[in-house]
Amino acid sequence: MTGSRIALVTGANQGLGRALVTGLAAGMAPQDRVLLTGRDPNRVEAAAAAIAAGPAVARVEGRVLDVRDAGAIARLAAELGEVDIVFSNATSRMSPQARPIDEVDAVCETNNLASTRMLRAFAPRLRPGGRLIIVASALGTLDKLDDRVAGRFAAAAAENLDAVDALVAEWRQAVHDGRAEQEGYGTWLNIPSKVAQVAAVRALARERRTSDLAENKLLMALCPGLIDTDASRPWFEDMSQAQTPARAASWPVELVLAPTFDPAFYGELVQFGKVLPWESGVPVAHTAAT
Ligand SMILES: NC(=O)c1ccc[n+]([C@@H]2O[C@H](COP(=O)([O-])OP(=O)(O)OC[C@H]3O[C@@H](n4cnc5c(N)ncnc54)[C@H](OP(=O)(O)O)[C@@H]3O)[C@@H](O)[C@H]2O)c1
Repeated sequence: MTGSRIALVTGANQGLGRALVTGLAAGMAPQDRVLLTGRDPNRVEAAAAAIAAGPAVARVEGRVLDVRDAGAIARLAAELGEVDIVFSNATSRMSPQARPIDEVDAVCETNNLASTRMLRAFAPRLRPGGRLIIVASALGTLDKLDDRVAGRFAAAAAENLDAVDALVAEWRQAVHDGRAEQEGYGTWLNIPSKVAQVAAVRALARERRTSDLAENKLLMALCPGLIDTDASRPWFEDMSQAQTPARAASWPVELVLAPTFDPAFYGELVQFGKVLPWESGVPVAHTAAT
């Protein structure tokens, strides 16, 4: 590949996002740009400087991007014009001790509305050979939801991004009204949130599959596996099997920098090189750490 390439990672000043930037910066070329984005200017600047001072080859640029700000996503997309690699990775942390009603707005806006905005803004701006990855989770499959709502997420995924946003808004309202548990959304916000992220990828992939595959473009949801970060630690009693962020970033970085990909990954949730079936997924054992 000749010319300068652009990679962009959201929520990248710590955790998996930071490791993705580190891996991209090491694997891309000196003329390439890797945009490390996050919501806090000081944290963004410090992370970008630390990575640039390491074995980075490509140029690492810290940029403030609060993904809850729709205008900021649109402005950055317009400024960049075209991009080669996007990881939509930012997440709003949840606590096992918190009440869902206190966290649902941040979760829906950071994890869900931001993901659909990133999809709308950047999918049309991918250059040939581009890769757009929504970082989801093994919680993002339909089996993790009560049957009463699983079918609604499947229906939204079969429709379009607006339908996914509308269902997220309904779930958010159900949490505010105290109806979420009785309606089948459960109490762990991360489950409907991750299912909705995968639904969004599937919805857009239905529209773009033929044209994207013809131009070697990948749109995919990623399940990175359990990673030892401040976000996951409170949720899992046993973190002995958790990966370091660097380890978790290595396969996704390899995937997006490879010249080709398995077309079976397109529009799917993929974990360590394997497609997770949307209906049945894989078991996820979690016990909140005390
Ligand atoms: N950790 C795991 O075991 C695990 C497992 C499966 C999937 N995942 C997924 O992997 C991704 C990264 O998780 P992680 O564990 O690395 O989380 P993390 O350590 O909490 O990092 C999250 C990042 O998102 C940023 N962020 C939060 N709100 C933002 C906003 N409004 N705008 C822009 N950035 C914002 C945070 O910035 P601040 O520093 O400013 O807070 C932080 O940089 C998430 O999508 C998560 O669901 C993680």
